[in-house]
Amino acid sequence: MKKVRFILSIAVLLASIGCTVQSEIDKKVDDLLKQMTLREKIGQMNQLSGGAWVADQAAKGEVGSILNCVDPAEINAVQKAAVEQSRLGIPVLVARDVIHGFHTMFPIPLGLAATFNPDVVEKGARVAAVEATASGVRWTFSPMLDVARDPRWGRVAEGSGEDPYLDVQMGLAMVRGYQGEDLSDPTALAACIKHFVGYGAAEGGRDYNTTVITERMLRNTYFPAFKATAEAGAATLMTSFNEIDGIPSTGNKWLLKDILRDEWGWDGMVVTDWNSAGEMIAHGFSTDLKHTAEQAINAGVDMDMMSYGFIQYAEELVKEGKVSEKEIDRAVRNILKLKFELGLFENPYVDETLSAKVDYAPEHLAAAKQAALESAILLKNDNNVLPLEKAKTILVTGPMADAPYEQMGTWTFDGQKEHTVTPLTALREEYNVIWVPGLDYSRDKSKAQFPKVRAAAANADAVVVIVGEEAILSGEAHSLSNLNLQGAQSELIAEAKKAGKPVVVVVMAGRPLTIERDLANCDAMLYSYHPGTMGGPAIADLIKGKAAPSGKSPMTFLRDAGQAPFYYNHNNSGRPNNGTETLLNDIPVEAGQTSLGCTSFYLDTGYGPLFPFGYGLTYTTFEYGNPVLEKSELGASDVIKVSVELKNTGKRTATEVAQLYVQDCVGSVVRPVKELKRFQRVELAPGQTKTVTFELPVEELAFWNIDMEYVVEPGDFRLWVAGDSDSGNPVNFAVL
Ligand code: NOJ
Repeated sequence: MKKVRFILSIAVLLASIGCTVQSEIDKKVDDLLKQMTLREKIGQMNQLSGGAWVADQAAKGEVGSILNCVDPAEINAVQKAAVEQSRLGIPVLVARDVIHGFHTMFPIPLGLAATFNPDVVEKGARVAAVEATASGVRWTFSPMLDVARDPRWGRVAEGSGEDPYLDVQMGLAMVRGYQGEDLSDPTALAACIKHFVGYGAAEGGRDYNTTVITERMLRNTYFPAFKATAEAGAATLMTSFNEIDGIPSTGNKWLLKDILRDEWGWDGMVVTDWNSAGEMIAHGFSTDLKHTAEQAINAGVDMDMMSYGFIQYAEELVKEGKVSEKEIDRAVRNILKLKFELGLFENPYVDETLSAKVDYAPEHLAAAKQAALESAILLKNDNNVLPLEKAKTILVTGPMADAPYEQMGTWTFDGQKEHTVTPLTALREEYNVIWVPGLDYSRDKSKAQFPKVRAAAANADAVVVIVGEEAILSGEAHSLSNLNLQGAQSELIAEAKKAGKPVVVVVMAGRPLTIERDLANCDAMLYSYHPGTMGGPAIADLIKGKAAPSGKSPMTFLRDAGQAPFYYNHNNSGRPNNGTETLLNDIPVEAGQTSLGCTSFYLDTGYGPLFPFGYGLTYTTFEYGNPVLEKSELGASDVIKVSVELKNTGKRTATEVAQLYVQDCVGSVVRPVKELKRFQRVELAPGQTKTVTFELPVEELAFWNIDMEYVVEPGDFRLWVAGDSDSGNPVNFAVL
């Protein structure tokens, strides 16, 4: 009892120290604000891209933040201008898109999500923070929390995929990793949750396209990761390019004030996306740049990234009474608060020798390798072809086998390809390798090297074909309408198969591609997304069997791009598919039209995906028992306790990601067919059985109901514990 009281009083003490620090910061902000002219205040709201050449503006106090400068000496020069030459000496905040690593590149965020391992993701973000801050960067535009259900959208690479719960867990892990224990730590990198909101729902997967999202969808699907990370203390938020119900996010008061501030009580700083204020003119929402500034500031934006609208017109707008000085003070308060929290006033400069000491540190490379190991998804492994334990000589071919730049993926401003270890290099450590590129880059259509590939395959014990997408084919503004492997890559796989040797395909890509035809031409397929700096050693370990795959797909794999958008947690249809559908080639000629018995499916691809969300094999097999609920009737404040026997029925030690899904059978509004609620990575030795237990508070079954209230509706539920979103036997329970 005494101990409990002691712990409690320590907690109270710490909380009060926290409050004191916060109120001291508030006081400093107020004091500074009082000394600032209107022009100086507006200067803080201005973010510019650049380094030394913005120093003059910084000296005039007209720049609050810079982005895209990562040279410590240049950063110090801009900082010197701001701190030593501007009237009030306010430091600038240095930002960068540190999306999946700074110098040491980790797998792209979609690959990180495939680990289903928040610890690995948090470590990756910490490494990124240590390296980025060593160069003087204190603010990253990450994590991207856009739920994305259409692989045509190039930016699926940058997020955690299609599921809101996974999105929350990965987002929280990244924020923890970037920001560390306390923003004042010199290695803390302020996070920016983006893009608020709905940007991933671009119609047709075409970047910057319009979105159609109802308020209920926003609340149930697109808000949760923002709300959770905002509540966890994410320092900043970025508005999105898209409009929601006719209102661009950057001018959307409902989003930026009513939801973010009033409903969620968040007190961080809001920045626009690059010129997203200015683009409200192209949206036809603003008449000119001045109008965009008025709308954005009044909607609740604090800082303008690269539209120049605030710096040019905000003063005039205040004088004309179109923007109140109170709005300006609100914005500047949020900006200054962050600068004080980061300790920039006390310590504005970076040690220019530091980055050379921390970049690519052995522990950073080890963490990147571990993330790459856990993110690879085994999609096929006929006759246990993998691991290639007995093979001595292997043919390695394919345009991604030795593409050090490409395997780092999108948003690799700062990763240096000289540090990348490719699969070819790593496989050479394990095997006698015959190397024939086959194709020179992923879009290469020339089959000139194919005869060489076939001849070499005949001399090898196995063939490893490493294909995928060059880094530039995914990411921002890189949407595709066709998701097959580019160039002659599918033909290369088919060619390799002709020698009759076991064929292992590794895909390094920024999105789940439509690889059905390629699966038919290989014995095994490992999908590694763009795995980053240490992708090569991770892939070599998996191929050799030094480690077993454990990644699970954070997005549904489609048979054909025409199925997009396709996601497992869609709402119930009145006519769900039931497996009795007549497909294209089975329809008789002059068939009479009927709608009887018709269900939701495509005549050509049928209903199902190629692989469902959560899917991934490994080098052993797992068997799930039926889930056993501690109680099958629960009250609103109860906790669902469910356990399942999980057995390794194969011959190797491996890790399974056990996934808990729930379906709310009847709701006041139509509910999803199932939703991920928990997951757990479980390592099992051959023959070993473990009881996997999950606890899920009933309150986490809440959703936004017919009255737009967040409630748990009493009634019947179904629950699964399984290895993916499309298997397992459900058990029923009721909430009374
Ligand atoms: C535009 C992108 O949408 C955003 O994600 C990024 O952070 C900014 N550019 C800054 O580079």
